[in-house]
Amino acid sequence: MRPVGPSLRTIAASLVLMACAMCTILFLMADQLRWDAVGYAGQSGILTPNIDALARLWQRGTPDSYPVEFPRILAQAGYRTAAIGKWFQQQMPGKDPQATLDFLDGNGWNSWIGRPYVYADDLHPTAWVGRQAVSFLEQNNATTPFFLKVSFHRPHSPYDPPASYLAKVTRDMLPASRTGGNWDSVFRGTPGDPPGCGATPDAWCGAMPANETLNSRLCYYANIMFIDEYIGRIVDTLKQKNLFNHTYIIFTGDHYHWRKGYPFEFSAHVPMFLRWPEVVDSVVNISRGTVIPQLMSELRDVAHTAFDVANATHLVPSVNPGPWRRFLDLEHSTVYNETVHWNALTDGEMKYVFRAFFPDELLFNLTADPWEMNNLADDASYHKELMLWRERLIEQFEREGRGPAFVQNHTLMQRTQGMTYGPNYPQGPPIAPGDEIVMQSNGASHDTWLNHSSGQIELMATNGSALGLCFASTDSRPEIQLLAQL
Ligand SMILES: *[C@@H]1O[C@H](CO)[C@@H](O)[C@H](O)[C@H]1NC(C)=O
Ligand SMILES: *[C@@H]1O[C@H](CO)[C@@H](O)[C@H](O)[C@H]1NC(C)=O
Ligand SMILES: *[C@@H]1O[C@H](CO)[C@@H](O)[C@H](O)[C@H]1NC(C)=O
Ligand SMILES: *[C@@H]1O[C@H](CO)[C@@H](O)[C@H](O)[C@H]1NC(C)=O
Ligand SMILES: *[C@@H]1O[C@H](CO)[C@@H](O)[C@H](O)[C@H]1NC(C)=O
Ligand SMILES: *[C@@H]1O[C@H](CO)[C@@H](O)[C@H](O)[C@H]1NC(C)=O
Ligand SMILES: *[C@@H]1O[C@H](CO)[C@@H](O)[C@H](O)[C@H]1NC(C)=O
Ligand SMILES: *[C@@H]1O[C@H](CO)[C@@H](O)[C@H](O)[C@H]1NC(C)=O
Ligand SMILES: *[C@@H]1O[C@H](CO)[C@@H](O)[C@H](O)[C@H]1NC(C)=O
Ligand SMILES: *[C@@H]1O[C@H](CO)[C@@H](O)[C@H](O)[C@H]1NC(C)=O
Repeated sequence: MRPVGPSLRTIAASLVLMACAMCTILFLMADQLRWDAVGYAGQSGILTPNIDALARLWQRGTPDSYPVEFPRILAQAGYRTAAIGKWFQQQMPGKDPQATLDFLDGNGWNSWIGRPYVYADDLHPTAWVGRQAVSFLEQNNATTPFFLKVSFHRPHSPYDPPASYLAKVTRDMLPASRTGGNWDSVFRGTPGDPPGCGATPDAWCGAMPANETLNSRLCYYANIMFIDEYIGRIVDTLKQKNLFNHTYIIFTGDHYHWRKGYPFEFSAHVPMFLRWPEVVDSVVNISRGTVIPQLMSELRDVAHTAFDVANATHLVPSVNPGPWRRFLDLEHSTVYNETVHWNALTDGEMKYVFRAFFPDELLFNLTADPWEMNNLADDASYHKELMLWRERLIEQFEREGRGPAFVQNHTLMQRTQGMTYGPNYPQGPPIAPGDEIVMQSNGASHDTWLNHSSGQIELMATNGSALGLCFASTDSRPEIQLLAQL
């Protein structure tokens, strides 16, 4: 589908969501769900009928950070807030919750090796999260609006779908594999690669055995199919409870696997949509079923959307949505490998990547080359584009006052050590319980995200107090689509 409308401003004006006094909000997440793995965006649609049936859009300009935790604001606005799901399953009385982990890669949580779940289907983490959500809705007191976050741990590793779902997924349902390009040979590897590459379970590159790759992909998609099944049950419950017509449903992921942490579409581009409820149909004057690819949207927009719906924007006085962003910034400090350290900018058509370790630059035209096969950084006909995007990154670093490690004399600097940028990092105030939202990725050497750092979404307790962080890193570039009513 093609863009609609003459200008962003016109489109944006027509999309501003109306506050809805009785509207509830359901926020669905799946960990490591790639953007094209859901039917509406990419794959055939056989696997995710329930997700596809919900797919719709919202858009909203959003500041980079909030001086607040958004569940608290929603609680102040009269919402009952709750979070179900995501973190790793650690307990399972009488059984081993880690039975399907593959420990060859050290901790097992990042393995790509697939194998069926070893216990009954209803013990699977996806089933547990889905059942808890259904139970929340069944017990919901209809007089109180709620914000419910349901965060599925899968399709994150382990790739362990119930055998019955694995049996439903066949090779012909999978999207085509895409390999090859003019810049990515280092990632391809060759058989017999040393540890860290090739066929090791935690590999960031390499020539994986074809049979294991196929098995892994089947398992990944079967896990998505299982999530879709439970999203269907959650939606059915909303309908049975007569909540569906006044529930905003937001759906997204955080990034993909194999290897997450990269700026490339397969990893950083995630699905994201909002289904607005029937009760606001008359004020949302854009038809369901339109794609507006030039509007960049991302995880930071979730909070602001919830404020709009809850009519809570006045509780966040310092937040001014401002004009629509023209492009997104993406960022990742070192993870897995010292070379995975980068900044990127994209407007959905072009993507500019500064790889800080080397340092070097990559430039892609996503319209012409959605799979990023063709690096245009050395293409003379794209020289002006390269300069434009480099200048934007320099300007951003200078504006943010990142200092000489990032930019000197209007030049991007090489960064061989991991370093996290955030307005409060690393000099933030002392950490107090309940005061800080932390995500610790892969141990001590990695990033810690504080409240104010960009791209995070906080976890909330039913009373609105923050408990932790839901998984949403700054490297995500959600899909931007207004989708067909299916
Ligand atoms: C949709 O909203 C925009 C902005 O408020 C307005 O200019 C336009 O006329 C509306 N279109 C329809 C069909 O109501
Ligand atoms: C986190 O946010 C709270 C307000 O919700 C604030 O009081 C606190 O200082 C912040 N903590 C950090 C480390 O920025
Ligand atoms: C349900 O509503 C009653 C008032 O009608 C209120 O006392 C109670 O706290 C509500 N329960 C929940 C879980 O919101
Ligand atoms: C792939 O082939 C190897 C070697 O034949 C075998 O050991 C392994 O079990 C196979 N894996 C799968 C998932 O079929
Ligand atoms: C929900 O909206 C649909 C479409 O407008 C309508 O057919 C249905 O009756 C509504 N359901 C309830 C419970 O209001
Ligand atoms: C939104 O909140 C404002 C300020 O509290 C109030 O005046 C207005 O009536 C509310 N709007 C809706 C739709 O509830
Ligand atoms: C990190 O990746 C580079 C290729 O980009 C590779 O040459 C290097 O060996 C890797 N380092 C480790 C520790 O695996
Ligand atoms: C990207 O590619 C498309 C399709 O080939 C082309 O129309 C567009 O002009 C290119 N964008 C830029 C910025 O060169
Ligand atoms: C930036 O300019 C200053 C003053 O001319 C010079 O001392 C410094 O070496 C320059 N830094 C870089 C990275 O070029
Ligand atoms: C909210 O719930 C959390 C977690 O159960 C608890 O630690 C906290 O004391 C509660 N806060 C209030 C104000 O009830």
